Amino acid sequence: MIRDMLIDDYPQIIKLWRSISGFRIRSIDDSEEGIRRFLARNPGISKVVFVEGKIAGSVLCGHDGRTGTLYHVCIADDFRRRGLGEAMIEAVLESLKKEHIHTVNLIAFTENTGGNIFWQTIGWKKRDDVNYYEKVIDSMNTIEIC
Ligand SMILES: CC(C)(COP(=O)(O)OP(=O)(O)OC[C@H]1O[C@@H](n2cnc3c(N)ncnc32)[C@H](O)[C@@H]1OP(=O)(O)O)[C@@H](O)C(=O)NCCC(=O)NCCS
Repeated sequence: MIRDMLIDDYPQIIKLWRSISGFRIRSIDDSEEGIRRFLARNPGISKVVFVEGKIAGSVLCGHDGRTGTLYHVCIADDFRRRGLGEAMIEAVLESLKKEHIHTVNLIAFTENTGGNIFWQTIGWKKRDDVNYYEKVIDSMNTIEIC
């Protein structure tokens, strides 16, 4: 079962994120308050996947009126390679289409071999013609690497 993410899912979701090797959790953005703000600004796009009544996967998605962005795409270790990841992303894309968003992007760390294969297998294009830039404007927004 795939449904929209709710703030009440947060305790299960943060636990899931912390179980994903290599995930980077931001102290402010990924706090309960940060996710509450994110979901309020981007309602009905982020998804959770349930297996046997428990959250087995999740994806955060927001858009700026032009481009959608995915964050923290994950399926719990025990439930991988069953098509759940692909189905969850399909559900996000359907929600974005309803919002008239036609392009979606995401960051995959270069060392994330499985993740990069996943995106290419499900039809996403790796861009080699761009450099990605970032500026952290609040030094309190620190990163925890799982
Ligand atoms: C990436 C991730 C979300 C994929 O979830 P999933 O539910 O296992 O993916 P699916 O079962 O829908 O995979 C669809 C297809 O992608 C390919 N694929 C997925 N994961 C793969 C892997 N680790 N290695 C090789 N191919 C893979 C396969 O072709 C698969 O189809 P198949 O199992 O019939 O061969 C999951 O592995 C995960 O959470 N990884 C850790 C977090 C992460 O890397 N997230 C992405 C960050 S950019």
